[in-house]
Amino acid sequence: MNVLEAIQTRRSIRRFMKKPIEKEKLTRILESARLSPSANNNQPWHFILITEKKAKENLFPAYPRNWFVEAPAIIAVCIKPNDGWSRQDGEKYWKLDAAIAMQSIMLTSHDFGIGSCCIAAFDEKKAKKVLEIPNNTRLIALICLGYPIEKKDPVTDRKKLEEIVHYQHW
Ligand SMILES: Cc1cc2nc3c(=O)[nH]c(=O)nc-3n(C[C@H](O)[C@H](O)[C@H](O)COP(=O)(O)O)c2cc1C
Repeated sequence: MNVLEAIQTRRSIRRFMKKPIEKEKLTRILESARLSPSANNNQPWHFILITEKKAKENLFPAYPRNWFVEAPAIIAVCIKPNDGWSRQDGEKYWKLDAAIAMQSIMLTSHDFGIGSCCIAAFDEKKAKKVLEIPNNTRLIALICLGYPIEKKDPVTDRKKLEEIVHYQHW
């Protein structure tokens, strides 16, 4: 699968087989996050791999959806904002660094036939406590991973290119 095909066919998956994800594949998925670009190459990220049943169940109160805790693996994407790069005017780029690593995780997983769903609508305070994430670190996303049960068509519900691309000026 080439990159554009991967982008076209990756969809959010919220129903997973019980089958665990092979350790080797999880390592390669994390490797794709490690290799991602970040502003000034600051790499302000940390990733927590959660595969144990009890550890996943402990996260349920932070995002009370059964499909979430039933995913064979969850990757918590964490950022130390103080390690991130800021532009001259003070604009901070650490959330973008996280987003790029997240896309790497989702596309690499998809290439392995593993479905994913990025979750942002969790209770950060509760999840940080459960995962013992330090105070100086933000929890940006929880990415569920697993072999998909549901099958989805390639992406169609996006704005048209004419609506979002401008040439020479807005
Ligand atoms: C940053 C981000 C946060 C998201 N948060 C959630 C979430 O909290 N819960 C959820 O079910 N889906 C979440 N999603 C999945 C989106 O709803 C989904 O990507 C979008 O509807 C497009 O569908 P697709 O991924 O199947 O193409 C999130 C996606 C992104 C990129």
